[in-house]
Amino acid sequence: MRVLGIESSCDETSAAVVLNGDTLLSCVTASSLDLHSVYGGVIPEIAARSHIESIIPVIDQALTEAATAEHWTGDPWERIDAIAVTKGAGLIGSLMVGLLSARAIAYSKNKPLYGVNHVEGHVYANFITKSLVQGINTPTTQPTFPLLALIVSGGHTQLALFTDHFNYRLLGQTQDDAIGEAFDKVAKIIGLPYPGGISLSKLAPTGNNNAYQLPKSKLKNRYDFSFSGLKTAVLRSAQAAVGADFRLSSTLLPNMLNDTQKADIAASFQKVAIETVVDKTILAFNEFSPASVVIAGGVAANTLLRAELEHRLPLPIQYADPSLCTDNGAMIATLGCFKAMAQVVPDSPFSLSANPVLSM
Ligand code: KG4
Ligand code: ZN
Repeated sequence: MRVLGIESSCDETSAAVVLNGDTLLSCVTASSLDLHSVYGGVIPEIAARSHIESIIPVIDQALTEAATAEHWTGDPWERIDAIAVTKGAGLIGSLMVGLLSARAIAYSKNKPLYGVNHVEGHVYANFITKSLVQGINTPTTQPTFPLLALIVSGGHTQLALFTDHFNYRLLGQTQDDAIGEAFDKVAKIIGLPYPGGISLSKLAPTGNNNAYQLPKSKLKNRYDFSFSGLKTAVLRSAQAAVGADFRLSSTLLPNMLNDTQKADIAASFQKVAIETVVDKTILAFNEFSPASVVIAGGVAANTLLRAELEHRLPLPIQYADPSLCTDNGAMIATLGCFKAMAQVVPDSPFSLSANPVLSM
């Protein structure tokens, strides 16, 4: 079973071919991130336009690289058994480009089509255990059920318990900002370029993580998350550090904070943000005794998160390659493989629609 996966929910245009839900044959991603960073966030119209320019070349290259990896001859489309595409959640213009491309291909090449949930897709990056793509490392074994998934990205923060494929219960989710969004906003306060999550995580180890006392949110459902209070507490601490109060515009802070203050803010914020998600993962682990734990989404690339979970979980944990944690076609293709292998009824190439607010 070879599935072509297409992902275009935000600013990455990505296509990949996955074999039998465990082997990555190719993964090609074009990002319009550079175009957005000058604005400090993703501009939906620019993202959609970039997807239109990239989608066909990206799909072509994913097929060519899969053909090379497995030494296919003849028409590569004959090797593809199904198409999987992100149908939501995401930016509507961005989603439409991938979705309509997938529908057109499924119809014209006569392939089954599977519309998949982007957030569920993130979890499936952990099922890739072999890679024919150079430089992508994978876990050695697939996770087993019941599976506890911590999904941490720029748009999502969720804890879900999967009892089997496609069968899960959402234990909790963020009530306001996603953790990645909080990383990006704090990074902006200390003057790091968008998206700041990765640069903040590189700066943090050089700072004192006890320099600023920041709060952890307390919510009625102990598996829910909230990061907007933490973000505001960081802003107030930064304003106080330069001798100002809440009236000082946050845009002035990058020039007023010194390097030590910036590193200390990064370290103190990262410690609390990561501790928050790790604490709740451990709570859920103790309550539900899952057979495996996986982390997914862009923030799953964070080294402190990886180290803390490894340290605090009583079972061994293997992580997906950081390149498969951020948005990519491979996770979509993998979930598509499992749907096709389970003979889930395919979606219609005439009517599959995008849902920008699709929930888990
Ligand atoms: O999953 P993803 O690529 O896109 C969404 O579906 O949101 O996640 C992107 C998010 C951004 O907020 C980015 O700053 C964050 O993941 N991120 C990180 C790290 N690498 C990416 N956050 C913390 N530490 C990292 N190493
Ligand atoms: Zn994502």
